[in-house]
Parts: sequence; C-alpha cells; structure tokens
Amino acid sequence: MSILDAYKEKSSNEREVDASQKIKVGIIGTGWIAEAHLNAYNNCPDVEIVALADLIPGKAYDFAVKYGMDVENLHFYESDRELIDNEPDIDAVSVCTYNRQHAPCTIYALEHGVNVLLEKPMCVTLEEAIEIRRAELKSGKVLSIGFQPRFDENMKMVKKIVESGELGDVYYIQTGGGRRMGIPTPFGTSFIQEDTAGIGALGDIGCYSLDMVLNAVGYPKPLTVSGYKSGFFGKKPEYLDKPEYAEKFSVDDFGAAFVRLEGGIILDFRISWAMHMDSPGDTIILGTKAGMRIPATECWNGSIGGPLVIYSNCAGMPVETVIPERQNSGDNFDKKIRSFVDAVKYDLPSPVPSSQIIFNQAIIDGIAKSAEIGREVEITFPDDVL
Ligand SMILES: NC(=O)c1ccc[n+]([C@@H]2O[C@H](COP(=O)([O-])OP(=O)(O)OC[C@H]3O[C@@H](n4cnc5c(N)ncnc54)[C@H](O)[C@@H]3O)[C@@H](O)[C@H]2O)c1
Repeated sequence: MSILDAYKEKSSNEREVDASQKIKVGIIGTGWIAEAHLNAYNNCPDVEIVALADLIPGKAYDFAVKYGMDVENLHFYESDRELIDNEPDIDAVSVCTYNRQHAPCTIYALEHGVNVLLEKPMCVTLEEAIEIRRAELKSGKVLSIGFQPRFDENMKMVKKIVESGELGDVYYIQTGGGRRMGIPTPFGTSFIQEDTAGIGALGDIGCYSLDMVLNAVGYPKPLTVSGYKSGFFGKKPEYLDKPEYAEKFSVDDFGAAFVRLEGGIILDFRISWAMHMDSPGDTIILGTKAGMRIPATECWNGSIGGPLVIYSNCAGMPVETVIPERQNSGDNFDKKIRSFVDAVKYDLPSPVPSSQIIFNQAIIDGIAKSAEIGREVEITFPDDVL
C-alpha cells in the first residue's frame, strides 16, 4: 500500500474478499429487480449463483440466457418452494418477488434454514411481518431487508447528525416524498395490482422515506397512526405507460399519516406516485437545539434533493449551516448485497434487521387500516417479536 493511501477509508466493496470460501445463492423471482441482485452478486467473488426460480414457466431460464449466465450449471424452478426443497446445500436466497409473495417465500426459506435477503417493502401487512420475524428468530438465520439507501453517504450523514446530539431532543419529523406523475409499471402491472403488490406508493417508496427518518432517530416503536390513502390517478389511462393498465389499478397512489412514536416524537408523513403538485415537501427534523432540512427526494435511491441544512441559534441569532453533499464511493446496491453476504459468511448481525423494519411495516399497515375505518388506530406488537 502506498503511503498516500494509508489514511483512505476503505468502502465495503473495496474490502478484500476471501473467495476461497464461496456461498451458494438462489434468486426467487426473476423480474425487474432480480437483474440488480444478479449484477451485485456477480461483483462478489465469493458467491456462486446456483438456482433461479419464477412462477412463470420459462421465465427464470430466459432471464439466465438474457444475462449470459452459465445455464448448464444452473438449476431452474417454477416456485420458491421447489427451489428450497431441491437445493439442500443452498446458503441464501434473494426474495425478489412482488410484495404479496414476500412473506410466504421468506418464511419458507427461513424454516428450511436458508438465509434471506428480502426486497423492500418487508411485506404487505403487520401480521405477515410478525410471522416473518417469528420464523427468523426460530431459524437463527440472517434476514436482511433490501433498503439500499441505508448505504448512501448522505443518508448516513442524516443519521450521524441526529446521533451527534446536534439537534437536541427530536420531537417532530415531517417526511415523505414522491412524484407528480410516476406510477411504476416498468414490466407489467405487478406494482399496481392488489393481488400482487397489496400496497402501492406506500409500499413502493413510502417505506424508504420512513426508513430514512426512523433509522436516523433509532427506530422508535410506533404507538398510533391516523392514516389516509387514495388512488385517484392510477385509474386514469394518461397516468400509465399503457392505457389498458388503468383498469387493473387497485392500490394507493397517495398516502398520508400522523404517527405517534415512542419517546414523544410526532411523525407527519405523505407519499405520492401521482398528484397535482411538484413535491410533497422537504423532510424536516425538529429538535430542541436545532432543526434539519433534507430537501425533497424521490426516496428510493438514497439521493437527497440538495445539501442538508441545519437551523440553529448562534449567540442568540438564527444561523443556518449547510452540510455539503457527500460523494459515494461505489454503488449502494452492491453494498447492500455485500453486507448481506458478509453477514451470512461471518455470522454477523443483519445489516438491515427486521427488528427495525417491522416498525416501518407497522406504520404502513396502520395507515391502510386507519384509512379503511376512518379513524386513528393503536399499534401493538406481540412481546416475542420485539
Ligand atoms: N430495492 C429496489 O430498488 C427495488 C426496485 C424495484 C423493485 N423492488 C422490489 O422488488 C420486488 C419485485 O419487484 P419487480 O419489479 O422485480 O417485480 P416483477 O413483477 O418484475 O418480478 C417479480 C417476479 O417474481 C415472480 N414470483 C412471484 N412469486 C413467486 C414465487 N413464489 N416463486 C417464484 N417466483 C415468484 C413473478 O412471477 C415475477 O416474475 C418488489 O417487492 C419491489 O418492491 C425493489
């Protein structure tokens, strides 16, 4: 190592990897996001992808051909169960199915002693999240939830600032994000149908903005939620890639909530796939010593809409401190996969643990349930999953 490199911080994907000890991985669901998992696993010299599964006959094989995989040395299956039942030596799977299949696939894999990297959102309902958590605790295996923004330098900075105490005691958070016109139908309708997605904007991007702020303040338990959701735009053909998708739209495209968190923090949240507004607003975190503004973002990739600004008083005068945007070294998705592989190989704690994300899911579930009955709901958790 050159003397000039001596003080360089190594990013997780620059770290030297022991490729002599490989782990065997399978991918369940070979749709859109599976490509990103494949690419990131390919960047891990200590991972061997041994099997692919998709419910649609031939889809897993076609995926392998499309991405130049060695089909002779791969096994293809038509369901998650078939893969798990026939691959007794597999170490881990990525669950890349649509949301409704997150819980069954994850629980089945964990019950069979397989470590799981589960795409976000964790699942659809709180009841499912509880069952996932129970299966994980019983198995003793690693379960990590696929929030790649966690590995973003600016997201880490948000957390670092809150944890430093610079803001004092946090008592109010306004967060959310989204788009004016951006209902996702990249490869069909799995994001916008109730029977596949279960939840719309809330689960697709809402979970990210919740994770950004909840992670920063240490994931306090949600106590109550008063929520709202609507779907006025998804049924309009002009809002969709293909007009015929409009009749299939059956989830939310906007959601909002007022949430009380343990420790006296109020969370004011809104998320949008479509609305007549440019942005649902910046994220603000108010503390007793200072406040922080995180300019509005689309949420999913960890990007922030500009530099963070801290508002405080100096010698009795209001002052603003601008925190310059930090550059990432390496790709956040690669880091998400690498952190999971390391946890599996070296028996490390889950990088994005379900013990936290169950609270994220509980808020989303609380919004859906509160919206349905038209009043605030209380959120409770069985003791065995906390
Ligand atoms: N982290 C990210 O940036 C990111 C980006 C996009 C999507 N996602 C998440 O990834 C998940 C998948 O999204 P997508 O766009 O790839 O969806 P998709 O509809 O393109 O692909 C999902 C695939 O899973 C298959 N499948 C469903 N149940 C299965 C089962 N039991 N066994 C085997 N295969 C099964 C389906 O047939 C389909 O081919 C979603 O939950 C989404 O929220 C994450």
